[in-house]
Amino acid sequence: MEQNKDISIYNSVFRIGIVHSVDGRVIKVLVDKDKNNSHLIFQGQLIKNVAVGSYVKVLKGFETIVGKVESEYIETDKGVPVQYSSQEEYISRFLIIKLIGHIEGHSYKKGLTELPLIANECHLLTNNEFEMIHSFGSKDDMLIKIGAIVSDPLVPISIGVNKLFASHIGIFGNTGSGKSYTLAKIYRQLFLTFKDNESFKNNAKFLFYDFNGEYSKENAIIEGKKIYDLSTGTEEGKDKIPLSDKDMLDENLLCIFASATEKTQRPFIVRCIKLYKTIGCDIDKFKNYLKRQIVDILEMSDKVKGDLLIDYVEEILPPNIKNGIDIGLREDFSYHSNAQCYFLKDRSNGFINFQDRPQYILNLKIYQQVDQFAFSDNFIKNFINIMYMRLIYDMLGNRAMNEHIAPAINKLKSNEKNIEKVFDFTGKIGSFWNMSNIVAINLCNVNTDMKKLIPLLLTNKLYREYKKRREFNSYLNIIVDEAHNILSYQSTRESESWKDYRLEVFEEIIKEGRKFGVFMTIASQRPSDISSTIISQLHNYFIHRLMNEKDIQQVNNTISYLDKVSVESLPILSTGVCVLAGQLSEMPIVVQIDRIEDKNKPQNDTINIVEAWCK
Ligand SMILES: Nc1ncnc2c1ncn2[C@@H]1O[C@H](COP(=O)(O)OP(=O)(O)OP(=O)(O)O)[C@@H](O)[C@H]1O
Ligand SMILES: [Mg+2]
Repeated sequence: MEQNKDISIYNSVFRIGIVHSVDGRVIKVLVDKDKNNSHLIFQGQLIKNVAVGSYVKVLKGFETIVGKVESEYIETDKGVPVQYSSQEEYISRFLIIKLIGHIEGHSYKKGLTELPLIANECHLLTNNEFEMIHSFGSKDDMLIKIGAIVSDPLVPISIGVNKLFASHIGIFGNTGSGKSYTLAKIYRQLFLTFKDNESFKNNAKFLFYDFNGEYSKENAIIEGKKIYDLSTGTEEGKDKIPLSDKDMLDENLLCIFASATEKTQRPFIVRCIKLYKTIGCDIDKFKNYLKRQIVDILEMSDKVKGDLLIDYVEEILPPNIKNGIDIGLREDFSYHSNAQCYFLKDRSNGFINFQDRPQYILNLKIYQQVDQFAFSDNFIKNFINIMYMRLIYDMLGNRAMNEHIAPAINKLKSNEKNIEKVFDFTGKIGSFWNMSNIVAINLCNVNTDMKKLIPLLLTNKLYREYKKRREFNSYLNIIVDEAHNILSYQSTRESESWKDYRLEVFEEIIKEGRKFGVFMTIASQRPSDISSTIISQLHNYFIHRLMNEKDIQQVNNTISYLDKVSVESLPILSTGVCVLAGQLSEMPIVVQIDRIEDKNKPQNDTINIVEAWCK
């Protein structure tokens, strides 16, 4: 008896109305007249009443169908057969509800098995049911708290570590909407939870590309991370990233560094890589090859070509300095136009023509200078020498035209200095993850070209390593804030092949990285700028305020999880509030992200101009 009383009280409080019409997944509910307040009281607890954006359940026999309120409206009763005691009674309130799932046993399931009937009762959700829908992790998952439901700050939102971090994450929103803050918050919570676990430190790696220096302060997000503070602005550069020659010996990368054309320069670079591998670190081999080339050149009768090739040899060899001036390497020989050959300037033994007496070449300065040659620590410098050597071979064999190839070498030369400023090929500074499993690369002081090249090069290298390793435990998360810097496909500053390769690398990670334990988190202001392959393959989305129609469209088109209310709320979300959608939540939910301690937040405060100017 007691129990029945409870149930009837419960039903009277939680019931909000009855189904008035059913149209596919959209139903109309007529709200009971006494249910028009914003809150209800049940057993001393305040319960939020139904409003647009909240959830309700429809009871059809033993089936519980869950829906989300999309809109509401009122109708006034025009016929007056009854006497109404108050104004409100004239009014009927209707809710338009979209059905989204059902409750099966003790869990919530997306999708419908049955549709309601007219006159079925519609109820508010109990706390238990509410939690069922908002559970963001399976039972064996570990939860981290990131914020609270925006409509009710007392309901915390905790997400399963497995569900969130073993997935690709997208964070979108206009400038100042709180993307970087959200990104920092979720990773801070993760790091705090696991920071003392040895296997976390050994197996999980996190790499932040920091385009604006927001995460590269000692305390930002978490203490104790390794920061590579790169710079191309100073002569020496600052920190350097360790890299091996092998990492650079990638056809695509070198073609990008050299802006190589597809038809002539790319095959040339492929030949150079082959020659590089043949020579390896064998300095004697290199010297012998070069000496042989010098002999071949000086036996030629074509002056124009010969002089050009000697220029190339001079590029390779160390300068011949006398009294502080580079006097070149041609002081002891010259070209004889009538005899059409190179000859020895010293005529004490008569006219010596190298075509007839090549043994004299061995005493020339240019030939002797080869012994002074040494490999550099800088891979690019060595590779450029190999390119010159390859070009000499190709021209001697009439395979290549200088004017087609030289621009690629020159471009690489112009990049050489920059590469030297940010990479270290000596192997002396330890490995990349030497100090910590969390690395932030500060790209703030790096020029635009390198801003794009460094992430591409590193990501490509790390991904290939992980792909090859295929270890069960290994985990790599690449985090890119301001991702439009490298993932935009609209940029016109670069060549097509560049763009293709760049997108290929990142798209491959998004499409296939999961199998190798490689995941990405990308944050960007303009989802419409980023390739839709990437956006559509992300698993979880944090969507902050978005104003632009095109961006909203892009988000709406590619993320099938979003419902109408969430999409329409995007332009009016306040800072720090976002719609969380994707695999981890059964339905999109609007979350207020928790605060981060001031010293750990990313360095990105908006300037307070009044405060700054009133001093
Ligand atoms: N959840 C939050 N709680 C408190 N303050 C926040 C929250 N989210 C953001 N802010 C504040 O709002 C400001 C802007 O946030 P943030 O830098 O994260 O925006 P953003 O979307 O990354 O902008 P941009 O695209 O320009 O990088 C910051 O000063 C930050 O401290
Ligand atoms: Mg930001």
